[in-house]
Amino acid sequence: MTKIFDDDLDAEFGTRAIHAGQRPDPLSGAIMTPIYQTSTYVQEALGQNKGYEYARGRNPTREALERNVAALEGVRYGFAFSSGMGAIDSIMKLFSAGDHFVVGENVYGGTFRLFDKILSRMGMTFSYVDTRDVNRIAEAMRPNTKAVLVETPTNPLMRLTDLKGAAEAAHAGGALLIVDNTFATPYFQRPFELGADIVWHSTTKYLNGHSDMVGGIVLVNDDDLAARLQFILNASGAVPGPMDAWLALRGTKTLHLRMQRHDENGRTIAAWLAEHLGETNVFYPGLPSHPQYELAARQMRGFGGMISVETGSRERAAQVLGRVRVFSLAESLGGVESLISHPASMTHASVELDRRTALGITPGLIRLSCGVEDVGDLLADLEQAIA
Ligand SMILES: Cc1ncc(COP(=O)(O)O)c(C=O)c1O
Repeated sequence: MTKIFDDDLDAEFGTRAIHAGQRPDPLSGAIMTPIYQTSTYVQEALGQNKGYEYARGRNPTREALERNVAALEGVRYGFAFSSGMGAIDSIMKLFSAGDHFVVGENVYGGTFRLFDKILSRMGMTFSYVDTRDVNRIAEAMRPNTKAVLVETPTNPLMRLTDLKGAAEAAHAGGALLIVDNTFATPYFQRPFELGADIVWHSTTKYLNGHSDMVGGIVLVNDDDLAARLQFILNASGAVPGPMDAWLALRGTKTLHLRMQRHDENGRTIAAWLAEHLGETNVFYPGLPSHPQYELAARQMRGFGGMISVETGSRERAAQVLGRVRVFSLAESLGGVESLISHPASMTHASVELDRRTALGITPGLIRLSCGVEDVGDLLADLEQAIA
């Protein structure tokens, strides 16, 4: 299993982003970790090898990424997967039929689909609650509850969960707290410092940041959880290829710089939208009008570039989506380029209509992933699209 180097936690965030988990290549001194594009490793003699036997179990490029992101989250172990969904699927293999889970009602549509359509069939049970109120977590706990799973801020409604309160509620019931930190990234939010036991990401998003690969990662600090996850990773095999691991690793080197700009652009655009469309129609935790602004300011170091907007109707949403020129109509988020999407028919289409409506994912809702372009161009684009 991949453990960080002893000095990986010594430096500050930006230095970790660039150096943690990586050493010059032992063969040539190459400063960038090579892409070890290999499926197997030659063994010197029977039972004698350099620690690498077969690339499903270990790959040096993947290990550099795993150590790097573990160090960014401030913990000791990382496990990279072929997608965010591969990551959460492997996390759930820590558990068994008969186990119960308390889940934030507004988690990513794909996470809900995995739980609702596949794992439920295999004997796991799930209670979906509004985790904005941590008392709802405590109320939903059962004797067989093994974990509480939350995402904060949520996709796409930007609702927050008090992570410290959620950890206390989970631990009081003998359960783990599992956090999807994809939206905030470790640059803005550190769930382990607030009591989380497992953190996971879709590396496809901000960690990679360049929209050129799909991947996931799981981080833990506990030795036992790490050993079990390594077993699952090798036994189930949802691992990323070395090229994708390398692309994600190149992305994390600039995470701190990109996040600052996503945040600047996000704040400016959210304020502009609130002024033009009304505060109650703009969902962004960095707006003082956000109902959980105080929690956001306490729990996060910045708010990032994700904003959702209620336009009022599907027609109006379609008009904006059809008119944008700098924002591109596409699923996904967290890249350097700005994207715009329609959650009801795109990312959350797998959530049934009545459930979507109850959550507030209306036909008029659009979601913006503000990139790192010049903010004046982004504002001008939105202005002509909304006019
Ligand atoms: C918050 C969040 N978690 C998890 C995922 C799933 O990740 P992936 O698409 O890499 O499988 C997504 C994808 O959009 C997401 O937005």
